[in-house]
Amino acid sequence: MQNLTELETKWKGAAETAGSVDALEAIRVEALGKKGEITGLMKTLGTLAPEERKSFGQQLNLVKDAVTAAIETRKAALGDAAIEARLATEKLDMTLPARPGEVGRIHPISQTIDEIIAIFGEMGFGVREGSDIEDDFHNFEALNIPKDHPARQMQDTFYLPQKPDGSQMVLRTHTSPVQIRTMQSEQPPLRVICPGRTYRVDSDMTHSPMFHQVEGLVIDEKTHMGHLKGCLQDFCRAFFGIDDLKLRFRPSYFPFTEPSAEVDIGCDRSGGELKLGQGNDWLEILGCGMVHPKVLKNCGLDPEKYQGFAFGMGIERIAMLKYGIPDLRTFYDADLRWLKHYGFLPLDVPSVVGGLTR
Ligand code: PHE
Repeated sequence: MQNLTELETKWKGAAETAGSVDALEAIRVEALGKKGEITGLMKTLGTLAPEERKSFGQQLNLVKDAVTAAIETRKAALGDAAIEARLATEKLDMTLPARPGEVGRIHPISQTIDEIIAIFGEMGFGVREGSDIEDDFHNFEALNIPKDHPARQMQDTFYLPQKPDGSQMVLRTHTSPVQIRTMQSEQPPLRVICPGRTYRVDSDMTHSPMFHQVEGLVIDEKTHMGHLKGCLQDFCRAFFGIDDLKLRFRPSYFPFTEPSAEVDIGCDRSGGELKLGQGNDWLEILGCGMVHPKVLKNCGLDPEKYQGFAFGMGIERIAMLKYGIPDLRTFYDADLRWLKHYGFLPLDVPSVVGGLTR
């Protein structure tokens, strides 16, 4: 019968000395692939006598586990080395002066965020930022999304490794945790927007695992749904530069607002091309609602005294609509030709008086 110790030594040795991820994969296939040596031995088990089969099978499984583990360990090490090597070759000196004759461009995401800040700034909103890595309380619990709530599945979450106390940090799935942090650290009246990066396990033509949102929050003693509608209507009309842009507030559900609505803007799709501000079609662009009393309470505010609204929208989405950018993924390709086409001149600083559209 095959000497299993030798077999294990052979494949472990091969894995441990593999020089590249590709070489390691070839070793894995030779040992554990469909036609691999260890897999082949597994297939012979059926031909052995029952007692022999049991002990040989158990030993063979141990060999298989040991070789699998050796491959995984080597894979992690090679992966780290590959990243290190790439980082070393891709080093850029950001302090180098620009090449003569070349003008850099402002990325459409940066420009759109500046436009949003300019419009809401004019309405008296301040800007707050949180961090990309959040705890469960701020990303979910305080927003009235308890464990096992179906809304947790609505937002496919990237979890960080478990901490010794069993808790897990997350990559924030929305900018709403910044609402919570603002209400916890400042006293009403509050009027803030919170732009930033957000993350969800999602990737296709219209979804990226990293994207941007802007959150809005107004808290005082009197703000009501009418203010919410007026505020968002003014924003959309200024942002898209269409004075008579139609808006529709459609009842919806978010755990952290009550009542909740989604906002659609009027558009025309009839010519095969999307035109905003005309026609009889609707396009969803954001979620909003009156801050849920439970959320106010979770932040230490008295819901009998305070009330207000919140909204959240995707920045890529409204940038694509405004600037006619067809594919979401191109935002992150770092393709200079794309940036020259869709980017903005550095002195094109958006402001309500200076202009928000080009
Ligand atoms: N956080 C919500 C989302 O990511 C958007 C939202 C924000 C809705 C604030 C209502 C109020 O989908």
